[in-house]
This record gives sequence, C-alpha cells and structure tokens, in this order.
Amino acid sequence: MTDAIVIAGATGDLAKRKLLPALAHLCKSGALPNSIIIVGTGRRPLSDDAFRLLAGESGILSSRMYYHQGIAGLDSFLRKKGSTHKVALFCALPPNAYASTAEEFAADGIATRGRLIIEKPFGYDSESSQALNDSLLRFFPEEEIYRIDHYLAKEAVQNILVFRFANSLFEPLWNTDSIDTIQISATETIGVLGRGPYFDTAGIIRDMVQNHLTQLVCLIMMNRPQSLDPVHIRKEKMAILESLSIVKYATGQYLGYTEEPGVPSDSTTETYAEIELASSLARWKSTRILIRSGKALPTHATEIGITFRPVALPLFPVEAKSAHNSIIFKIQPSEGIVLDMSTKVPGGELALADTAMAFCYRDAFSSEIPEAYQRLLLDAIKGDKTLFVSSVQTQASWNLYGPILGKPAQYLYKKGECPCLNSFTGWLDFEKYRSICT
Ligand code: BG6
Repeated sequence: MTDAIVIAGATGDLAKRKLLPALAHLCKSGALPNSIIIVGTGRRPLSDDAFRLLAGESGILSSRMYYHQGIAGLDSFLRKKGSTHKVALFCALPPNAYASTAEEFAADGIATRGRLIIEKPFGYDSESSQALNDSLLRFFPEEEIYRIDHYLAKEAVQNILVFRFANSLFEPLWNTDSIDTIQISATETIGVLGRGPYFDTAGIIRDMVQNHLTQLVCLIMMNRPQSLDPVHIRKEKMAILESLSIVKYATGQYLGYTEEPGVPSDSTTETYAEIELASSLARWKSTRILIRSGKALPTHATEIGITFRPVALPLFPVEAKSAHNSIIFKIQPSEGIVLDMSTKVPGGELALADTAMAFCYRDAFSSEIPEAYQRLLLDAIKGDKTLFVSSVQTQASWNLYGPILGKPAQYLYKKGECPCLNSFTGWLDFEKYRSICT
C-alpha cells in the first residue's frame, strides 16, 4: 500500500502545472486514497503553508500537503507524518538530476520502500539511456522504476487496444494482406516556446518520435497479449520494436528557429521529421509505416490513420470513384474514431462517395475525459505498470533511431506552413476528418 507521494522538484513547473492539479482533482473526486500524504521537496527552504500557496492549493488536499527541504532526513520526516509503507517518489526534475536524486533517496534510506517515477527523456541515445538505467538500478530494482510516457495515458490512446481486441470486426483484417499503410501524425502549431536550450539538444526525433510516436506504433501493430498483465503487453510491444527498421527519413527546421531564445544561431537541429519504417514480421511485411511530427506547423493534432488495400476484384467502374477504406483514430485535440467507406450517391447515375462513420467521445460519454497525469499518478500509487515504459523498450527504441539521431535538418520550412513539398507520398488527408468530433 502506498501511503505517501514525494515530489522532488516540488516548486518547479511540472509539479505546478501538471502534478499538483492532477492530485487535487483526484482528491476532489475521491479517487486518491484518504491515507495518502503529499510531500514536496526542493533545495530552498519553504513552510508547509508557503508550499500549499505555491501549489495554488487551498482545497481538501492542502491539509495533507507538507514540504521538506532537501532529501536527507526525508524518511524520518515521512514516518513522523504517519507514512510507514510504500512511497511514490516522483522526480519532477531535469533528467540530468535523475541519477544523483536516486542516489540521494538511497542515502536517506527511503529508497528501500520507494517507487521511483521519472519522466522522459530517458537518456539521449542508446549509450546514455543504458548508463542512466545502470545508475538507477544501483538504487532501485527495475520493478520499482516507473518511466512515464504521458501519451500512453491519453484516453483515446488507451482505447486503441479496446478497439482492436474487444471487437471481433477488425482483428481478422489487421495484417499486411488488408492494411496498406499505418500512419501516425503528431503536429503542433507552437514552436519551442521557452524550451530552446532543451529542445536544441534533442530535436523532434528524440523529443516526440523515439518515445510517444513509437509507443503508438506498438499499440497499433502488436499481437494480442496473452492477458492484460503488463508483462504480457510489454512482451508484445517488444516483438514489434525489435522487428522495426528505418526505410527512409526526411527532416526540416522551421525558419526563425535559430532566433528562438537559447538556440544557437547556427543550429541544425530538426524541428520536423518524417520517417518510414518497415517491420520484418510476416504479419506486417508489406505494410508501409509512416510517422511524422513537427513544431510550428499549420495544425495541432495527433491522429493515426490506417488505410486498407482496395477491393481485390473491383466491381464498380473506375469513374464511379470507389475509395479505399480507412480508419482514423483521432487522439487529440478531439477524441474519436472515424471509419471512411464508399457508399452510393442517391440518384440514377452510379456514383460512389466517401462517407464517414464516426464515434466521438464527447457525444458517446458524458463524463469528463481525465487528464493523462491523473491516470499516471493513480497507477503509480497502485503499482500498475501497464502504462509505463520498460528499460528494454526504451533501449530498443533508441537502437532503432540511433542511425538518424543528431543529423542536420535537410531543409527549411516556413512557420505555420506544412513542409509537404518534401513529404513522402501516401499520407492520408487528415484535414478531411478535421471537423468530425469537434
Ligand atoms: C512532450 C514534448 O513530451 O510532449 C513536447 O517534450 C511536446 O515538445 C509534448 O510539445 C506534446 O504533448 P501533448 O500531450 O501536448 O501532445
């Protein structure tokens, strides 16, 4: 049983913007166990009241919030506040502080009853990720290390496995004989905002592709796991990761990126990437896998498209314009699933039209869609690792993208414009479905 959550870096941005509001929400809705206390730690001295104020918390959660300066002495502080069981240790800190913080937890003695929760990036490439894992494993066993990929906790992402494995309709078609392309697109309108110094050492492949988008690829392509046990799900994801290779890639940088605060004027870091992957598994041998992500683009949307092969023996004349079927998973900003298919246009002439059948979360369910961190925090408290990434997965993913990391961006594109001229062929026109489910 977890009876305390420690937020290391409690006065920082992540704690303030995401973690504390998510905890307050869980507390209000009654989902947070009553016995849990929240302890913030940081370098500077702060009273409990000042911490509550800083967190903007005056509701029922505030009476369970405390602040402790630094990590030394944390275990006895928690015991005095009544926590003697498992403690969720959330590192809301810059990644270069993970290893030293884990060591501090160990020196204090709290690591022996702790569960370490860390955010991406888990390393910078295959070697640094391995080194980070090695350092963490000196103080915490792998079972107690929870690596967050917040995309996995998005409601529409969790629905992918339900859609695939709770419906008998699609799984028989979910293979290379029927599916022509798998397309994952995550575009943002914002640039790097105030994160220039971080982003410039990362680039979009490290920032979005190696983690979030690749996890989506796994969910779409993995075999049915033996059960919902995280071990079984991880095993199937690994089979996909190990089967993938890069066919080709293209990268761009938006004009004006090098003038962003904290970005060197001669930076060649990519802010846009398009990658085609292939799988060596028989199930996916001739399906194209396209992924793309970028900043400063015309739209803010994360979408997954599955396009099906045309009917084997066409019955209708070409002029009737029969379309290929496709399924679109709308992940954000609005959530839904769209099935695109051909239907007859009313009237005497034989003409076909693409028509969309849609399931929209907001229409189907009246309850509010929970923010990803609420789910992640609750799972970390419960000790459910389903939505967390294992060290072998991060390692396999770094190995996959290793050959294209840190290469100079190949072309420039205008802010707010799609770098489509340089784009691979075969992408769905996601714009066509944009107004559905809004
Ligand atoms: C983060 C990246 O992991 O995900 C950011 O570091 C990106 O660069 C963000 O903007 C996107 O997350 P979401 O949930 O807004 O799609």
